[in-house]
Amino acid sequence: MSDTPTHKVALYPGDGIGPEVTTQAVRVLETLETRLGFHLEKTTFDWGVNHWNEHGKVVPDDFLNLLRPFDAILLGAVGWPEGIPDHITLAPLVQIRQRFDQYACVRPSRLYPGLNPILSGKGPRDIDLVVIRENSEGEYVDNGGRMRRGQPDEITVQTAIHTRRGVERILRFGFALARTRRSRLTMVTKSNAQRYAYVLWDEILEELAPDFPDVATNRQHCDAAVMNFVRNPAQFDVVVASNLFGDLLTDLGGIIGGGLGLAPSTNTNPERRFPSMFEPVHGSAPDIAGQGIANPIAAILSAALMLDHLRLSEAASQIRDAVERTLAAGHKTLDLGGTMSTVDMGSRVIEHL
Ligand code: NAD
Ligand code: IPM
Ligand code: MN
Repeated sequence: MSDTPTHKVALYPGDGIGPEVTTQAVRVLETLETRLGFHLEKTTFDWGVNHWNEHGKVVPDDFLNLLRPFDAILLGAVGWPEGIPDHITLAPLVQIRQRFDQYACVRPSRLYPGLNPILSGKGPRDIDLVVIRENSEGEYVDNGGRMRRGQPDEITVQTAIHTRRGVERILRFGFALARTRRSRLTMVTKSNAQRYAYVLWDEILEELAPDFPDVATNRQHCDAAVMNFVRNPAQFDVVVASNLFGDLLTDLGGIIGGGLGLAPSTNTNPERRFPSMFEPVHGSAPDIAGQGIANPIAAILSAALMLDHLRLSEAASQIRDAVERTLAAGHKTLDLGGTMSTVDMGSRVIEHL
């Protein structure tokens, strides 16, 4: 029997550029598997628009049971708004996050040397932060309803749920991460206007801070935080935010870090009771899909975060180093101001491994 460490990985390439970028991430993984002697047993699920066209559903009814036995899920992107309403295509993605209790969404944003900063005058030393997005509750719970559909007096209700347990565990996760970095935690809410849920966030931060005396804490309302991400991103180390605010902050974090084509994400269940999922921050980018020009680096860096989770941290660091060297050498896809294709960028990263 072979004693090569083996991990079961579900591949969910999805729609649009999802399959294009996932293919490159898998090439990078396979290069390292051979070189470093680990094995990822991969199973691909062709869900999304194709599945919809054949079966009238974007995923099969038992998709959660199918994913449950895997050690990790690597997702490309989902969504094809021209063909299917987004709230239908994207529902399974949100369900995976919630049902597998992937409550910690970790989204690093770092401007690599060699890239043109979108914020003039800011360099790699100014932009190196991680947004921790609460990923299991908040504004994303499926809780609401509609009355008198289509009538002039129609009413909708969409209620966010923030639990003490949910807020406490994500803040503790943020504090622990801050300790491994520059020991600064900024919590982003809107507690000046939303006086129930976000005031609970404020109170829990106060309660937890004494357990982490070595971490400096700071609170910002979301409106001020978006302004500060642009004005003075260097002040941020670890940023903890609710589900929706974390979503908004991480598209912004992506672009100030060189572009969405570079921004990776986890959906982590830290207790490992369920598989965690890894995916770029970006979506299926229908505007460039099928042209072979999408930047695969966000998917490649998401695969690196998956390797960290699988405790293959040497392989994960090798990927990050290779990406850093590739970008420093001036290799650029269209979104970075260059002309390289998706496949060429994948090849350059592999050469720099
Ligand atoms: P998007 O992230 O797909 O694209 C926004 C812009 O960034 C586009 O101009 C796109 O071309 C560019 N871009 C994104 N990724 C890129 C890459 N790797 N390389 C180069 N350029 C890249 O956001 P959108 O257009 O608002 O959404 C498109 C679809 O994706 C929608 O259906 C949306 O709901 C869905 N979506 C899915 C996810 C996900 O699967 N996790 C995330 C966000 C959006
Ligand atoms: C993301 C995406 C998703 C989100 C959508 C596709 C539901 O924008 O992963 O950031 O809002 O969480
Ligand atoms: Mn988003």
